Amino acid sequence: MTQPHKDSASAASILVTGGCGFIGSNFVLDWLENVGTPVVNLDSLTYAGNPENLASVSGDPRYTFIYGDLNDSELLATIFRDHHPRAVVHFAAESHVDRSILGPDAFLRANIDGTFRLLQQARAFHQSLEGFDREHFRFLHVSTDEVYGTLTPTDPPFSETTAYAPNSPYAASKAASDMLVRAWHHTYGLPTLITNCSNNYGPLQFPEKLIPLTISNALAGKPLPVYGDGQQVRDWLYVRDHCSAIRAVLSLGRLGETYNIGGNNQRANLDVVNTLCALLDELKSGPKPYAEQIAFVKDRPGHDRRYAIDARKIQSELNWYPAETFETGLRSTVQWYLDNAPWIESVTSGAYQNWVQQNYAGRGKAARSEVSA
Ligand code: NAD
Ligand code: TYD
Repeated sequence: MTQPHKDSASAASILVTGGCGFIGSNFVLDWLENVGTPVVNLDSLTYAGNPENLASVSGDPRYTFIYGDLNDSELLATIFRDHHPRAVVHFAAESHVDRSILGPDAFLRANIDGTFRLLQQARAFHQSLEGFDREHFRFLHVSTDEVYGTLTPTDPPFSETTAYAPNSPYAASKAASDMLVRAWHHTYGLPTLITNCSNNYGPLQFPEKLIPLTISNALAGKPLPVYGDGQQVRDWLYVRDHCSAIRAVLSLGRLGETYNIGGNNQRANLDVVNTLCALLDELKSGPKPYAEQIAFVKDRPGHDRRYAIDARKIQSELNWYPAETFETGLRSTVQWYLDNAPWIESVTSGAYQNWVQQNYAGRGKAARSEVSA
């Protein structure tokens, strides 16, 4: 039986999971600015979830926050029943590779079990729908290019048909979740879409990932840790470009399909850190050049050498292109962190300090052979 809509606004809501994290909170803001229909945000507020990210919309009648876990099936059923979303955009996950190496359990629970439970409730809800609502319901699963493994410097970039070869516990857990989504489409007819995107950067990113960590450590006069020789390559995507890509896939993507999203900005880590230092020298010069704080440290175990995305499918099918170059995106990101020092302070206290101790204490300086490799 189709559930009666409470009102026309709730009929048009979308359910976002993990909306208090980095990409999720940018997405909620982007959605309210560009689409404007109501958003329900389910988030369990792990260390990475910060409701302050959405303080600017906390009083907005179009925004509803629900504190809860993906693994709470009863809560999920209630949310579907009460809010009747027209789509689910699933960001919630444990997302940091280094944390997955030190403690994989949480990754399996959130990324695999959590996605499974969400799929089950979405499926039950979808089956209860009729007519227009059933036809237009969507489940969009946000995933990563890390499921494809690693590339040599001359390999072609990852396309949607590249075989999965995840190397870290994080990547394996995301690969498993992608497979569940695929199966729920093929077996149960759940109208799914999967996006696999490259490394995001931009405002509101927790300073455990390379770009915000470098900025916040530089400003605090701390070492800028570069793993191994710093020649690992990532393809950087500005977070708001990711948001516009997700909107495009949600409205026009073909059901059951995967879309790769990339910024076409392949850079070696050391180049990224040096560029950030140069931008900081220009925008907030310190007593000496920030690059002098760079410290090569022991490499990450199983470190993927290179990621690169072939984004031709989303470009040709959905006419999506990133608006930012790496230069413009990085400059506005640095400026955002300079303008939002209290935000960095509020998220880098307490539990964050324990993490820094755990992740970096055992690394020491990199062996000479690692740096010169
Ligand atoms: P994040 O770690 O900043 O945020 C994750 C959010 O999910 C947090 O708010 C957290 O509280 C919430 N969460 C975690 N477990 C939960 C659970 N069991 N129930 C409810 N909420 C839970 O992550 P992010 O960087 O914003 O990434 C979002 C998504 O995008 C993830 O699925 C990630 O795999 C994917 N992704 C991220 C990147 C990137 O560069 N950050 C790149 C590609 C794909
Ligand atoms: P990260 O931001 O953790 O993203 P991912 O591992 O998902 O790509 O790391 C980006 C790259 O930067 C990765 O090659 C690891 C490297 N890195 C460092 O060199 N030093 C650091 O302190 C961190 C956090 C990452």
